[in-house]
Amino acid sequence: MTLLELDAVRASYGKVQVLQDVSLSVPDGGAVGILGANGAGKTTTLRAISGTVNVRGRITFDGIDITRSGPEKVASLGIAHVPEGRGTLPNLSVRENLRVGAYLRKDRRGIAQDIDFVLELFPHLERRIGQNASTLSGGEQQMLAIARAFMAKPRLLVLDEPSLGLAPSTSQDVYDSIQRLRDESGIAMLVVEQNANLAFRIVESATVLETGHSVLSGTVEELKGRDEIRKAYLGG
Ligand SMILES: Nc1ncnc2c1ncn2[C@@H]1O[C@H](COP(=O)(O)OP(=O)(O)OP(=O)(O)O)[C@@H](O)[C@H]1O
Ligand SMILES: [Mg+2]
Repeated sequence: MTLLELDAVRASYGKVQVLQDVSLSVPDGGAVGILGANGAGKTTTLRAISGTVNVRGRITFDGIDITRSGPEKVASLGIAHVPEGRGTLPNLSVRENLRVGAYLRKDRRGIAQDIDFVLELFPHLERRIGQNASTLSGGEQQMLAIARAFMAKPRLLVLDEPSLGLAPSTSQDVYDSIQRLRDESGIAMLVVEQNANLAFRIVESATVLETGHSVLSGTVEELKGRDEIRKAYLGG
C-alpha cells in the first residue's frame, strides 16, 4: 500500500516557482530517498509535504488529500519532519526534548516506553540524558532531533540531510542510528541526502530531483547501475 504520494507537485516562493513537477511515492513501511544537487528543490519538496509552502498538484497521505493542509494537520495525521539544521530546543535537556516530541500524546506509559526505546537505540543520547541540548555535539544534536521526531509516534519520518555539516565518521554514526531505528520500529522514512552512499544504506528506492523536476526514480540497485548516478552521487 502507498502511504505518501506526490503527483505532479508544483510549489512557489512568492512569484518564483521552485518545484515544477515532482512525483514520488513512499510505500507503507518503506524507505525512500530524494537525491539532488544544491538548490534542486529537495527541502522545498519536504516543505510541500509538511504544509509550509503553497502547493499545486496533489499530495495524499494514507489516502487523505493533504495538498492544502497546514503543518498542524499534517503532523496530527502522522508525518514528523526533521528539518535541515535540526532544530532541537537548546535550553532543554535531552530528556525534556524527547518529552516535547511527545507533546500531542496522552499515553503516559507508551511515552515512557518509547523514551526507553530510543535511548537504547541511541546510546550517545543516553549518556547525555540530563545535559542541555546546546551542549551536545553536532552529531548528537542530529540524533536528538531524529529521536524527538520519533517520539511523536509518526507513521512517516521525513529527514532533511541528516549528514549536513557533519564529519564523515559522525555521519556514519548518525546513519547507524537511523538504520537501527528503521530496523527496530519498521517506520516509513523519506530521506533527503546529497550523499547517496549514506542514503543507500537505509532506503530501498530513490527519486532524483533536478531544478524542481523529478527526473529519475528507481530501486537502489537500478540507480547504482546508472552511470549518471555513479558520477554525480556515488563519487565515480
Ligand atoms: N524561503 C525561500 N524564499 C525564496 N526562495 C527560496 C526559499 N527557499 C528556497 N528557495 C529557492 O528555492 C530553490 C530550491 O531550494 P531548496 O532549499 O528546496 O533546495 P535544496 O535541494 O534543498 O538545496 P540544498 O541541497 O542546498 O539544501 C533554490 O533556488 C532556493 O534559492
Ligand atoms: Mg535543502
